[in-house]
Order: sequence, then C-alpha cells, then structure tokens
Amino acid sequence: MFDLPNAVRNLRASFIQSEAQILNIASNFQKEMVNGLEGKESSLKMLPSFLTKATGKEKGVFLALDFGGTNVRILVVELKGNRQYEILKQHSFLLKDPEKGYDFTTRETSGTALFEYITEQIKSMLPPGSVYPLGFTFSFPSQHKDVNQATLIKWTKEIKTSGVENNDISGILTSALKSSNLTEQVILKAIINDTVGTLLASSYTDQNTYIGSICGTGHNTCYVEPRLLDTGEQMIVNMESGNFNKLPFTEYDDQLDLNSDIPGEQRLEKMVSGKYIGEITRIIIEDFIKKGLIFRDCKSGIFFSPYSINARDISEFLADESHDVNTLAVWLNDKCGISNSLLEERITLRTAASIVVTRSFQLAAATYIGVLQHIDPQLERKHTIAIDGSLYEFTPGYARKLNITLKNILKNKADLVSTKLTKDGSGIGAAIAAARAE
Ligand code: BGC
Repeated sequence: MFDLPNAVRNLRASFIQSEAQILNIASNFQKEMVNGLEGKESSLKMLPSFLTKATGKEKGVFLALDFGGTNVRILVVELKGNRQYEILKQHSFLLKDPEKGYDFTTRETSGTALFEYITEQIKSMLPPGSVYPLGFTFSFPSQHKDVNQATLIKWTKEIKTSGVENNDISGILTSALKSSNLTEQVILKAIINDTVGTLLASSYTDQNTYIGSICGTGHNTCYVEPRLLDTGEQMIVNMESGNFNKLPFTEYDDQLDLNSDIPGEQRLEKMVSGKYIGEITRIIIEDFIKKGLIFRDCKSGIFFSPYSINARDISEFLADESHDVNTLAVWLNDKCGISNSLLEERITLRTAASIVVTRSFQLAAATYIGVLQHIDPQLERKHTIAIDGSLYEFTPGYARKLNITLKNILKNKADLVSTKLTKDGSGIGAAIAAARAE
C-alpha cells in the first residue's frame, strides 16, 4: 500500500544528497574534467575559449550581442579601464512573437534568417558611420578554433533553428552583417559562452574569480585551467557541465529525459536548471496523483501536461512559508481548478518543489567542489564563484543554501570560498572579451 508520508520520505531519500554523496559526485566530476582535458571519453566537453581572465584594465567602447535563448540583447558598453564599466545603450528583442507572427527558433527557420534578423536589430540601434568591435555571447556548446571562430556543436535549451548545428557561427554572423551592410561598422572580435562572460565580468572587478557559472534556464560552468598553454597563459575552459552524467538519477529524471527533445544529453542540466525544475516537480505530483496519494479527483490539467509548471511557479511555492500554505490554495484554484485542496496536499506540493530545488543547488555545489579540487587541491587561496541566472537570483533561499552547502563541505576552509551574483555577465563579459581579443 502507498501512503503519503512514506512516499514523501522515499522522495526525499532518493533526491537529497548527503555530504558523502556530494563529495563523491565532486570527485567523479573532477575525473570527468581530467578525462575531457586529456581527450579521453568524458561527458564534459571541456571547450577552450582562447581567453584568459580579465585584468580590470580593459578599456574602450564595445558592442555586445547576448544570444542565449529567445530573448536577445544588444548593448553598447564602455569599459573604463579601472574595474568600472557603464552600459551606454541597450536594446532587447524576442526571437519569437506569436502575436507578431514570427518565430526564428523552430526547425522550419534557417540560421541565415535568424542571424539576419539579429543584424537588422543591431543596425537599428547604431548611429550611421560609427564603428564597434563586437563581443558575441552565444550560450550554446561551441567548439572554438580561435577567439572569434566557433562552430555550434548542438543546440540546447529552446532553440532548434536549422543550418546552424555543426556550422561556423562566426561565418553565419559575418554573412548576416554583410547582408545588413554592417561589415565596415561591426567587427566580430570574440565569441564566448555566457559562463565565460560571467567569469570575465566578475574577474574585471574581483581577481579571485576562477569559476563562472550560470544557474538559470540552462546550467553550465567554466573555470580557469591552471595548466599553462605554450604561450605561458592560463585559458578559460567552458566545461558544458550541463552534460555531466555520472549522477544518481531517480525514476523521475529518467522519465523526464526520455520524453525530452534530447534524450541522454544534458543530464545534469535536466536536474539543476530552471527549465526543468518545474517539470520534475510536475512529474512527481502526477505520479502521486496516479497512486491515489493526493488530489484524488484530479484527472487532467496542469499536473498531466508536460512543462506546464515553470521555475516561477516553483519560486511562488517556496516563498510561502506559512502554516496553511495559502498561496498554493489560490494557485491550485486558479491554475488547476482545484478549489478544495487539503492542507496535506498543499504541503506535499511545496515539499516536492523544495526537494527538487535542494537537489539542484546540491548538485551545482558538487560540481563547484569538483572544480576547486582540480584547480586548487589544498584550497590555499580565495575563490569567488561568479554566478548569474534567474534560478540563483530569484528562487527563494537558493543562493543562501548553495553557500551553506559549500561551507558545510569545505569545513575549516569554508571562508575561502563564496558565490557572488554577477549580473549582466553575458553583456559586460562580451565587451571584455572583445577588448582582450583586440
Ligand atoms: C548551454 C550552455 C550554457 C548554459 C547556460 C546550456 O544549455 O549548453 O552553453 O552556458 O545553457 O545558459
């Protein structure tokens, strides 16, 4: 017989990681890093960025293009050369707008059309005759040949546009700039991942930054590889850690993965990121409903339709710490037509969300510990882990509990490591990348 307290207990046991489990994941992560670096089989792509950390002295006015999802931003950024910067101008637009009748993110659209739309947007905001070096943040796994030459390995997250995977994105962007008559005005200097942008932006003001990470719709981390290159420099490596797969999957993770667009891929991202935490929670609740544990009269609606609970809903559940969880009563009524929810049902929903979120920051923390063990095994210096993304910024308790998780594990060295919200890494970081590439 299934009973609710037992089911919740089992859920907790299969999701929440003990300190020993976190350390074990960290050590597997570090092994995968080394395998990836040595060209052996690894779930971590370990992609070179051809960039080093910022010095804080980078200076000039740059154009930054930030493309990591359906919302694209173009910024004009002034780096002042004294660890300070200013955003002089910015323009955001969507790659799909059902109301206006366009969508550049589907398989039916070509990469050429997508990039020409972007370059036309750039054109609309530049004064005629002005010339800008461009830093391009492209938040998808890309193999670099040089700092401004990269090939998209595979789309992740929500974009599926044709003709871009396995193609040279620098070439596609350059052709689009040509079509928009911008060749003289906009000079592509650097293409970077958003994690790299975050690391660059943070290191511009804080030299203790060796790790940059995104905990948002997607999840990924980069770091400064201590092994020196032939040039005597240290390079930032984009791990594409969202693809890490030496992990304790639950039946719910397997179900989500099997029904996803990319089964078998991005397994860590599917356990950590904002795109998926709502869906994991939904799958758990659907299972509980099917087992007759909660919402017994509910046969259809939100809990039965994939991706209908999002990270914002999860934040709303967690924000309500009240005894009667009244926000959830309202949410259940508005979104699912459940007007007579029981207290234990609301508590179960909030608990499921909290368990999923706890595992998310625990796994992110495990990978950061793996990186720390690789770059500073004895933990001898300070580390700021620069993090951007809505999950980290807005999920109640996420940042605080992520830090606590790290501190509990690092024990007497805990004071050396902290995480820091680094807003706008993709914009400022792109400008810094363009400056460093010049
Ligand atoms: C992409 C990464 C990116 C991350 C965060 C993932 O889906 O593969 O390249 O850094 O999302 O935006």
